[in-house]
Amino acid sequence: GFIMSIEEDLEEVRQMCEYCDKCSLCKSRTNIVFSGGVPNHNMMLIGEAPGYYEDQKGEPFVGKAGQLLDKIFASVGLSRQKDVYICNTLKCRPPDNRDPLPEEKEACRAYLDAQIEILKPKIILLCGKVALSSMLNTSTGITRVRGQWFDGPFGSKMMPIFHPSYLLRNDSHEKGSPKWLMWQDIREIKKAYDALVCSNG
Ligand code: URA
Repeated sequence: GFIMSIEEDLEEVRQMCEYCDKCSLCKSRTNIVFSGGVPNHNMMLIGEAPGYYEDQKGEPFVGKAGQLLDKIFASVGLSRQKDVYICNTLKCRPPDNRDPLPEEKEACRAYLDAQIEILKPKIILLCGKVALSSMLNTSTGITRVRGQWFDGPFGSKMMPIFHPSYLLRNDSHEKGSPKWLMWQDIREIKKAYDALVCSNG
């Protein structure tokens, strides 16, 4: 029919990504990495780009950083199986995990925008500096803005958070360390999420 479900709309965009050749990453990718977790209206996490394991499996956050991300969610009782839709700024892996180029972000932008428009998530987590600069159009460092809520598309609220691979490189748990700050942020996120789910059912 003319009225498509969220799943069908997302599938259509995913297939466009499968055939995408708008930037040169299409030549080196093994798989596109479109999304993981559950499609829902509550919470979306936007990461940077697929790494080696993600490119191999076609799934986001399945390497070391992803395992840490799962632990961070689990620490407050959240999981990718039931609570969060996960996607990335880029759907294809940059060779050697280099930072995405501006033209790659530009080429991939419409797919991310479509995911946001279809799901209209109430909470959007901007995971790391690439997602932050894409969605907030700022060059401000993540350390300055993490843990704060910003107005996002479709009435959403967005919070920048550290990328788990940054936490893997900064292992301290001391008060004020990146891991300690992430612990504050995930509890604030959980509070906002519970308030949402309570009001929506
Ligand atoms: N890092 C990301 O930003 N995204 C992934 O999917 C995996 C690692």
